[in-house]
Amino acid sequence: MSTSPPARRGRGAALPDFPWDSLAGAKALAASHPGGIVDLSVGTPVDPTPAVVADALRAAADAPGYPLTWGTPALRETVAAWFARRRGAPGVDPDGVLPTVGSKELVAWLPFLLGLGPGDAVAHPAVAYPTYDVGARLAGATPVPVDPAGGAAALEEARRAGHRVRLLWLNSPSNPTGAVLEADELARLVAWAREHGAVVASDECYAELGWDERHDASRGGLVPSVLDPRVTGGEHTGLLAVYSTSKQSNLAGYRAAFAAGDVALVRELLEVRKHAGMIVPWPVQAALAAALADDAHVVAQRERYRARREVLRGALEGAGFRVDASRAGLYLWSTRGEGSRATVDLLARRGVLVAPGDFYGPAGAQHVRVALTATDERVAQVPERLAGPG
Ligand SMILES: Cc1ncc(COP(=O)(O)O)c(C=O)c1O
Repeated sequence: MSTSPPARRGRGAALPDFPWDSLAGAKALAASHPGGIVDLSVGTPVDPTPAVVADALRAAADAPGYPLTWGTPALRETVAAWFARRRGAPGVDPDGVLPTVGSKELVAWLPFLLGLGPGDAVAHPAVAYPTYDVGARLAGATPVPVDPAGGAAALEEARRAGHRVRLLWLNSPSNPTGAVLEADELARLVAWAREHGAVVASDECYAELGWDERHDASRGGLVPSVLDPRVTGGEHTGLLAVYSTSKQSNLAGYRAAFAAGDVALVRELLEVRKHAGMIVPWPVQAALAAALADDAHVVAQRERYRARREVLRGALEGAGFRVDASRAGLYLWSTRGEGSRATVDLLARRGVLVAPGDFYGPAGAQHVRVALTATDERVAQVPERLAGPG
């Protein structure tokens, strides 16, 4: 008598449904607009990759040997210099830099790479990029949504509820809300994490896109990094800044990102990543270094987004929306004080597709996320569509 082998349960069973699938109806409706769809639902860059970066990729096309998982010393020094020049964070040790294959893979695998598992908690912002939750689940750890505005008190509450927080994800500027954590707020969160033995990973990939005076680099502002000395007290132990050039440099297709901070932690990650083949291709390492050494294209891209943001913000507010937070980053976190799916449908009827806030957690259920990542031609359609009859 043959017995059938036990059924295999795929990893995907532990993961939520892919939320974008639920937007198919709204997308079809928006696409049926006579003027075509204006897709503001995803944060994927649409402007050309800067020539300085594409040239560096081409120049490194001859790559017969394996690249260094740790990245070349030149790349790691370029990253350290970038933190000092652009992020107000001098003192990054090039040995504490690690290139990653885009930052999404690191977000998804960090809990696993750190050895977290059942019984460990991964705290992340309550309204957030969904991959923090996914990463905790892939490791078998528990995702714990925490309101970052609640500061250390919210983390303390999670601890008292029995969660052993081993990793704290921060995301400033936030996707989707555009909220920014100031240096004193970061410092308090870091102090709590250090006291309780949690690693802090701060996902900062929108940091060059600050809009208000306090955060706009073109007006002398700054979005603080977790590696800012006002936050660290000059000590990087237990801290990782996670950064990506996807947004600031129109490089999402290259998968060019990095983490930096605690040298011991980076060595620990490196040990596993070397075994697992998690290596950034050599031409991409060269392109990443070129992108980080050139500030001019980042400034030009920010100005493109600034102009689109002004058009979209005016159109939304003119149509009765309230835009919350949105002090930096690529999104307008907008509400009409109704359920987000109703707003998605209303905008889809006008040919504009946005993401419902519930993609980012139940606390987002009355907002929609409006991305700035469409061409000038598409963005210019929006004021008339929102002003016209529904
Ligand atoms: C907050 C946040 N982190 C990480 C990523 C991933 O970026 P990438 O994998 O392109 O580096 C994104 C992309 O949308 C994001 O919004």
